[in-house]
Amino acid sequence: MQDRLLNFLSDPNDGGSLELHAFSSHLGQTRDGVLVNPSSGRWYVVQDGIPTLFADGLRPDDSEFVARYENKLREIGCEFKPAPPKDGDFARIESERRARDEQAQDYDAMWSLKALSLFENPVYKKAMSVDLDSPLLEAGCGTGRLTAIFAEIAPEVVAVDMSRESIVRNRARHFARTHHPVHYIHADLTHMPLQSKKFGRCAHAGVYEHIPSRELRLQFLEHAQRVLTDDGTLMLSAYRYGGLTKIWEKQGEHEGGIPFFRFTEDELKAEVEEYFRIEDFRENLAIYMSMVVAKPL
Ligand SMILES: C[S@@+](CC[C@H](N)C(=O)[O-])C[C@H]1O[C@@H](n2cnc3c(N)ncnc32)[C@H](O)[C@@H]1O
Repeated sequence: MQDRLLNFLSDPNDGGSLELHAFSSHLGQTRDGVLVNPSSGRWYVVQDGIPTLFADGLRPDDSEFVARYENKLREIGCEFKPAPPKDGDFARIESERRARDEQAQDYDAMWSLKALSLFENPVYKKAMSVDLDSPLLEAGCGTGRLTAIFAEIAPEVVAVDMSRESIVRNRARHFARTHHPVHYIHADLTHMPLQSKKFGRCAHAGVYEHIPSRELRLQFLEHAQRVLTDDGTLMLSAYRYGGLTKIWEKQGEHEGGIPFFRFTEDELKAEVEEYFRIEDFRENLAIYMSMVVAKPL
């Protein structure tokens, strides 16, 4: 983790600021350590260069890290609490987190996604090719189908995902490239551990339909609005319910417990318009998606 990432991070529980305590470093970057909120005493793991920043109810099990660094954690006063049981919508987010970790390798191998990317990727790139000097938030980066494109058009990318396995694959895929820096954060998009008004662009492709309730989707949009600058741009794509896609279930679960919802044009617009003014709407992108480009209200 580069120290520069601290310019973007905040506590996912209360928005407070965080201090980095490095336990080990490599080539000037923190490999293992903790991020501590001095006012609440909460702390978050940085492991193998990736910070993990979840709200209390979604905190993953970090007992192995605690066992490894018990003395150092005690020295700086970090209190160990076991990961809580996940209830309600958090249980659904947790089931997707587990499924995404397990399926990260399969996701990259999906031929259908590779084919659809030929249509989708240039559209996403064009939508995000605005305000070119601004940092770009990739909200739900997955295994990196789009990350390299965004790193070509932004001086700095912050890539967030709740699946650690996907992030590890994403990072390995882009490590040797020479384009702009990508910072990775292991976190939940409905409790974004990011400071306000830091990004000129937010790309959210193929993630929104998996956030398991309307309430949490709106919570994501509220965060997206908060972290964007006043004139920032949101690009959001999500499963559509229209045309050919009506032969599929409107909502349900993919294999492994990944929730999904297909949106009619009116449904998607109505949710986005709670926090954004829509500038462009493409109802049919590569048959299975709709795409919105919007500005914060
Ligand atoms: C279908 S993949 C899309 C990944 C990438 N945007 C792409 O187009 O290839 C959805 C990704 O969103 C992530 N995701 C879903 N809900 C999330 C949430 N609440 N917080 C963080 N990541 C989430 C999943 O872990 C998964 O990697």
